[in-house]
Amino acid sequence: MRKKFIAGNWKMNLDNAAAVTLARELTRSLGDFVAADVAVCPSFVYLSAVAVSLKGGSITLGAQDVFYEANGAFTGEVSVAMLKDVGCTYTIIGHSERRHIIGEGNALINRKTRAALAGGVLPILCIGELLEERERGKTEAVLEEQLREGLVNISAQDMCKITIAYEPVWAIGTGKTASPQQAQDAHAFCRKIIADIFDKTTAQSVRIQYGGSVKADNAAELLGQPDVDGALVGGASLKVNDFIAIVKAGAKT
Ligand code: PGA
Repeated sequence: MRKKFIAGNWKMNLDNAAAVTLARELTRSLGDFVAADVAVCPSFVYLSAVAVSLKGGSITLGAQDVFYEANGAFTGEVSVAMLKDVGCTYTIIGHSERRHIIGEGNALINRKTRAALAGGVLPILCIGELLEERERGKTEAVLEEQLREGLVNISAQDMCKITIAYEPVWAIGTGKTASPQQAQDAHAFCRKIIADIFDKTTAQSVRIQYGGSVKADNAAELLGQPDVDGALVGGASLKVNDFIAIVKAGAKT
């Protein structure tokens, strides 16, 4: 049985005080909760402060992006070692907002993923189709390409350390959620491709999160699908009660 993994993607929200307060309240509410793995991903500048608020609790820290070089003249970028240094266990890589607003492609995302693995930070690798791609029947082709190109030169052993986040772009921040069946179908397809690239055992151990307008009232049904192993939560992760409700819904399934 894959343990559920719920991660909060705070995106470019909150200020220092609000990030610290949110982390502290979540830590207090969850106590030593271990029925699901839980992480929060604040923006880079608040990682250190949030790390302090998470101390002693069961919530781990993640970043929203990382660069593939170890150090040097890369103005504005943040290395894997820097993320480790401030206490990150995870980093999101290839989020659709970075793919579509910043222009990141699969090759860059693959370099970042390999760098994170090499440096001991666990990648949450995001994939997902645009609405027009879904409408043109291209969902599986898009997911397959993002997986195959994003996972180039990664060993089966390292693949087990990666979380895949399936986030249909049309469902992110829109209030439109994939139906539980749509999510299940996409997740099962991704697992099939991972089995093809690696092997069945590896594919069975990889956690695949769903992301896109996950809320307290739809979490149980989505997380109840056999291939949905968690959630990457944006908007609802900024509210203590909503995020806790999603975590608890995940733990029950
Ligand atoms: P959302 O964002 O829950 O606000 O749709 C999810 C994400 O982008 O990770």
